[in-house]
Amino acid sequence: MSVFAHNCPDIKFTVVDVNAKRIEAWNSRNINELPIYEPGLKEIVAEVRGRNLFFSTDIDRGIREADMIFISVNTPTKTYGKGKGMAADLKYIELCARQIAEVATDDKIIVEKSTIPVRTAQTIKSILESTGKLESSGNVESPDKKIKFQILSNPEFLAEGTAVRDLQNPDRVLIGGDHQTEEGREAIDILSAIYERWIPAERIIKTNIWSSELSKLAANAFLAQRVSSINAISAICEKTGADVEEVAHAIGADGRIGAKFLKASVGFGGSCFNKDLLNIIYMSYTLGLQEVANYWEGVLLINRYQRTRFAENIVSALFNTVADKKIAFLGWAYKKNTNDTRETAAMYVADYLIEETAKIVVYDPKVTQAQMHNDLELLGSRPSQENSNSLCAVNDPYEACHDSHAIAILTEWDEFKEYDWQKIYDSMKKPAYLFDGRNIVDGKKLSAIGFKVYQVGKGNI
Ligand code: UDX
Repeated sequence: MSVFAHNCPDIKFTVVDVNAKRIEAWNSRNINELPIYEPGLKEIVAEVRGRNLFFSTDIDRGIREADMIFISVNTPTKTYGKGKGMAADLKYIELCARQIAEVATDDKIIVEKSTIPVRTAQTIKSILESTGKLESSGNVESPDKKIKFQILSNPEFLAEGTAVRDLQNPDRVLIGGDHQTEEGREAIDILSAIYERWIPAERIIKTNIWSSELSKLAANAFLAQRVSSINAISAICEKTGADVEEVAHAIGADGRIGAKFLKASVGFGGSCFNKDLLNIIYMSYTLGLQEVANYWEGVLLINRYQRTRFAENIVSALFNTVADKKIAFLGWAYKKNTNDTRETAAMYVADYLIEETAKIVVYDPKVTQAQMHNDLELLGSRPSQENSNSLCAVNDPYEACHDSHAIAILTEWDEFKEYDWQKIYDSMKKPAYLFDGRNIVDGKKLSAIGFKVYQVGKGNI
């Protein structure tokens, strides 16, 4: 919404949320205290906040005053009941639709922004239509008419860390709606006109609502599949002496394949890939498409395998025991330039090593120790006190690495490339191991210093 407000100074945007603390943080006077770190974001918020972007907890008022409402509530994976661990939890979407129906006093366009299983728009529509109020005609002669809601699907394709840039200059914007009716087409055009203020019209794709919902899940599944494909190849590389970067370069040069999303890693993380794959798998399964479910599940399984393989490599290289050994983690976020840690590979690798009674010291430029403990607690492998005893965070990378038996790079933060690696080597226990889960350091140079270097998909130690 900040980017929208920046591009449409004459439209008022109000962000409402039940979480008063979050809203307070978005309103905080100190622009450095915004709850989300994203390059370029604070500059935009500083410009538009109080001008045409407002943050508030007054949800009813927000609903009443709006002509168009974007629903972007969380749709986490269900943790209970049918579909537990796989299906998307639509509880918040439903609550949101009910509140809109209860409060709205005139026609509105409702835009789904959250990622949802296909046909969720139907749920929203049914709730709004069966519980929505009558709009007073203001005239005793004519009857009050039912409030009309148009539902659009407008999935979000921005990636974290580049969110502002992605939204300023997207490859495409997708708007799904009710093509069949005039009101439906009109609603699509109204939303499209907002985007057209800064995005060329030919990049706006208009589809039926179900195609739009499915395209979002499919796009993430395809991207995740590429990462899992190259990660599967990385395991073969390590057994054969092929170099995964050379392979990625060679296959990516084929225009039909393309060079992007072919970086082997310790495994993908983030709020989308895992959740959306589970979503597709569960949806296929409930539609009776078991083979389709199995196909996409393979993408997830390779991701888990890649994380475990990385952690096992650390243990086996360190003479099959990491008990009471200090292991330094560089990075915790699921990728660089974000403080988001959802589904980060780092927590799974940490969990594995804590089980082996290692002592982990983490340095991440943007993630707090409290967040790391929180992540491990959510995994639920052991009492939280044990996690706190086994893992701590420090604010200095050199301190994290000092006296450690091994360093594991879990996030590709640029600053890691610039460190004084000789100084780090000198301060470590020998042999000094470096496990580069992102292939960002110069392996040859570090080997020359004396490090025993492991990189994903390369002829190793
Ligand atoms: C993704 C989609 O890219 C975006 O379009 C969608 O709206 C939300 O989900 P995001 O999760 O923010 O965005 O990050 P992305 O850059 O896609 O990376 C996801 C994960 O894959 C990260 O953990 C990243 O490190 C990893 N990755 C990505 C690789 O391991 N190798 C690659 O080549 C690319």
